[in-house]
Amino acid sequence: MQTTTRIKLALLCLASIVAADGLEAYIRLPKVSIDTSNAEKVSEGAAFFKERCFTCHSMKYLRFDDVSLNAGINPKDAPQWSKDSWKGHPPPDLSLVAITKGVDWLYGYLKGYYFENGSYDNIMWQNTAMPNPYPDLQGKQKLIMTPEQIRAFHPRFYQVVKLDTSGSISAHAFNDKIDALLHYLVYASDPSVEERHSFGPMVLIFMMTLSLFAFLLYRDFYRDFD
Ligand code: HEC
Repeated sequence: MQTTTRIKLALLCLASIVAADGLEAYIRLPKVSIDTSNAEKVSEGAAFFKERCFTCHSMKYLRFDDVSLNAGINPKDAPQWSKDSWKGHPPPDLSLVAITKGVDWLYGYLKGYYFENGSYDNIMWQNTAMPNPYPDLQGKQKLIMTPEQIRAFHPRFYQVVKLDTSGSISAHAFNDKIDALLHYLVYASDPSVEERHSFGPMVLIFMMTLSLFAFLLYRDFYRDFD
């Protein structure tokens, strides 16, 4: 191989590395806390998921739980995509995404669409294959920092994008929807967590009663030795 070709190849590799160096690593995300015992929020999120996400995303590993079934999310009806659909980036299954990606990242991704040069892109995942699922509700956000500034200042999420044109619902109502959606995604990644927690006190009471009886028995046995 000629030296010039080698240099050209090296430059090409470098260019693709720089291009792939996404901005998400430089953005500080808020710490999102989700309480899945809030059943109302979880079912609200399930309904929203059914309406806006289930058309593309499956929930394969979800058990047949009432919350999902009531919202019309039946793993059997999930869409199926071949590996090369969506230019090789088919919508992945989301049943465990809250665990694999983390809630903070999901918050950023689901609120991260901004409008620039006639199309939407996502600040947490540039050139994502996923089209903005709710431009009508959210309205248009715009970037208020350049990529260079983002790299230099490590800003917080809300310092990077800002609502420019409002959508059909208020920003507050939209945030509520995303919050509910996150509740559902966290719930879906471990639907039995509340049930397990509710066993906790019963198990403790059982252990304490057992210990009491064991102690009484011990006292009874050893009384004879005194
Ligand atoms: C029109 C189809 C479509 C709809 C509707 C859609 N998505 Fe997606 N989604 C995709 C595609 C395609 C990808 C893969 C992105 C990529 O690889 O660049 C994706 C990726 C994702 C990912 C990243 C998962 C991972 O493990 O990398 C999350 C999270 C996600 N979508 C959540 C949602 C949620 C929540 C909704 C509903 C509000 C939704 N999507 C609606 C097509 C869709």
